[in-house]
Amino acid sequence: MASSRSLIVNSISSPLDLKIENRDVPKAKPGTAVVQVLNAVIGPQTGFALAHPMPNFQFPVPGIYGHSCIGRIVSVGVDSTSLKEGQLVLVDSHVTSRDDPNVEMLIGLMDGGTEKSKKLANDAWRDGCWTTHAVVPLENATPLDEETLVKQHGYELDELNYLARFAVAYGGVSALDIKAGETVIVGPATGGFGGAAVEVAAARGARVIAFGRNKDALAKIKSLVARVETVVLTGDLDKDTAAFSAFGPADAYIDFTPFQAQDAPHIGAGIKALRRRGRMVLMGGVSTISLPYWFIMLNSIEIKGRWMYSRKEIREVVKMVETGVLKLGKTAGHEVAGKFSLEDWKNAFEAAGKATSWGQSVVFTP
Ligand SMILES: NC(=O)c1ccc[n+]([C@@H]2O[C@H](COP(=O)([O-])OP(=O)(O)OC[C@H]3O[C@@H](n4cnc5c(N)ncnc54)[C@H](OP(=O)(O)O)[C@@H]3O)[C@@H](O)[C@H]2O)c1
Repeated sequence: MASSRSLIVNSISSPLDLKIENRDVPKAKPGTAVVQVLNAVIGPQTGFALAHPMPNFQFPVPGIYGHSCIGRIVSVGVDSTSLKEGQLVLVDSHVTSRDDPNVEMLIGLMDGGTEKSKKLANDAWRDGCWTTHAVVPLENATPLDEETLVKQHGYELDELNYLARFAVAYGGVSALDIKAGETVIVGPATGGFGGAAVEVAAARGARVIAFGRNKDALAKIKSLVARVETVVLTGDLDKDTAAFSAFGPADAYIDFTPFQAQDAPHIGAGIKALRRRGRMVLMGGVSTISLPYWFIMLNSIEIKGRWMYSRKEIREVVKMVETGVLKLGKTAGHEVAGKFSLEDWKNAFEAAGKATSWGQSVVFTP
């Protein structure tokens, strides 16, 4: 029988506790698809995340890590109606319980943190994409138009891994219903997801005010993405509010501030640059923030959070790329900064940890 090869995370510990395991190639059961993995994303924080247990960000071990991949369908469950053997698909991590839409988790990344989501992660979907053959929920295999993406647009298969990042960014753009002609503050824009949100919002026809601390990285985004203005943060609330406001009142603000930037003044500045009835979405990893309460109340500002995206939204953003409205690959400024075998995981994590600039990614090619 043909065999599959997987990189197993035995435990979250330092030194890292991983091993390669060979198994039989799985056969798809009802509700699942077996996907031959062509390339699987390695996030920049992977080496750290697999070495340090985090109470709010757990993943079932032993298990197969890896939250998204590009692959080909090998087999599907009897309840599949559309997917075909050999078809190119994007596998994403976001799973919603089939009998309770309030239960969500991320395959190969995070168990969702609740009793029910942990059950789903541990009992049903504990294995992700760092394998030659991933077993995924049918609905998490989004079909890709290979003819258009590869032959017409000339994208390499490794470059398609960026679609998963676009999906998260699209979740925020969609949550705020960003329209053509609107002005949208987005940032920090020099990171992975903030940068992708700049690209998606601009592709929807918005003018984007991309902010961050790195002037050169912002200049690169401005040179590659249409309708982008930039603001280099000073860290001073009033100065940053004035810098955002120089472009006129903004309609919306998409925030991807990471955990390490606790209570960053730019969040209040972005809110204060919004017009009356402006909208904001919180998508980053900060635990608590100070809010300009009076301003928000007086201006009827709408603030919401957004985790990931819906099934409908991931298919919408794929269509944007297929139709050429949203670009990826080298001409868009993206770079696959490293490709590694599963066995070479130490070097892979090191390379991923260095590929932190906007547009960069590192993948396993099992
Ligand atoms: N809502 C969702 O569904 C969802 C999905 C995925 C990720 N996230 C969250 O999104 C956040 C961003 O993720 P990422 O992968 O894009 O992170 P990343 O690539 O590490 O980017 C972090 C960004 O934050 C900036 N930054 C760091 N410290 C800062 C500070 N003190 N003040 C201002 N800017 C600062 C960095 O700017 P420099 O270039 O200046 O360092 C960079 O632009 C994370 O918290 C992640 O958990 C949310």
